Amino acid sequence: MSIIIRAKNLHLAYKKEEPIIRDANFEIKRKDFVFVSGASGSGKSTLLKSLYGNLSIFGGTLEVCNINIAQAGKRLINELRRNIGIVFQDYKLIEEWTVEKNIRLPMVISGYKKEICDSQVEKLLSHVDLLYKSNRYPLELSGGEQQRVAMARAISHRPLLILADEPTGNLDDYSSDMIWSLLKSANEQLDATVVVVTHRIPDRLNIHYRKLNIIDGEVYEYS
Ligand SMILES: Nc1ncnc2c1ncn2[C@@H]1O[C@H](COP(=O)(O)OP(=O)(O)OP(=O)(O)O)[C@@H](O)[C@H]1O
Ligand SMILES: [Mg+2]
Repeated sequence: MSIIIRAKNLHLAYKKEEPIIRDANFEIKRKDFVFVSGASGSGKSTLLKSLYGNLSIFGGTLEVCNINIAQAGKRLINELRRNIGIVFQDYKLIEEWTVEKNIRLPMVISGYKKEICDSQVEKLLSHVDLLYKSNRYPLELSGGEQQRVAMARAISHRPLLILADEPTGNLDDYSSDMIWSLLKSANEQLDATVVVVTHRIPDRLNIHYRKLNIIDGEVYEYS
């Protein structure tokens, strides 16, 4: 089975004297569904940042989608990101763009035809129950609605790898259920590999998953 993420003796830090992740070794295979947990400030978002090439690697190696992150230049990192869908802790929607245009963006970057974009955007908007708000702007939406848009945007281009940072952090059950259902269907139907940071693993997910925990800079797998 193909390996999507391989970390060997990985060290991550913002400053040399303050290591965040130390000597991490793990492999994530295609179609794995992985939860990452750990205390606030333990390095969960930092780890995700490294996975999409947004943090320089302090030591060891990190390969994501067969790209060596430490050695990759801007062109390769951009290529990598076309294979990744990201849901940020703070959504990061483009405020000047409508909901519809936000969701369309990764597909445009990936070069999808307009007709395919149109139908995919409509399908996703309907899935997150926001068809009637497709022409609104992010700041006219509630937090839960913005997060549902962010989730739809992250999967619109059918990425190989989905990274989600606390995607249901402040959401009610209605929005949370939609987010988990989208992640689950991307994993099961599109074979996407999913890495999701969360403090609380949902009870009724009904899916086989792995669990990583970050404690004092070390990454552990537990069952
Ligand atoms: N840009 C940065 N520059 C320097 N230090 C940073 C930066 N971003 C995060 N840190 C530090 O790195 C450590 C890990 O932060 P990170 O955001 O990865 O934690 P987290 O596990 O995602 O926490 P939370 O659950 O609160 O989101 C913290 O001590 C934080 O202060
Ligand atoms: Mg975080």
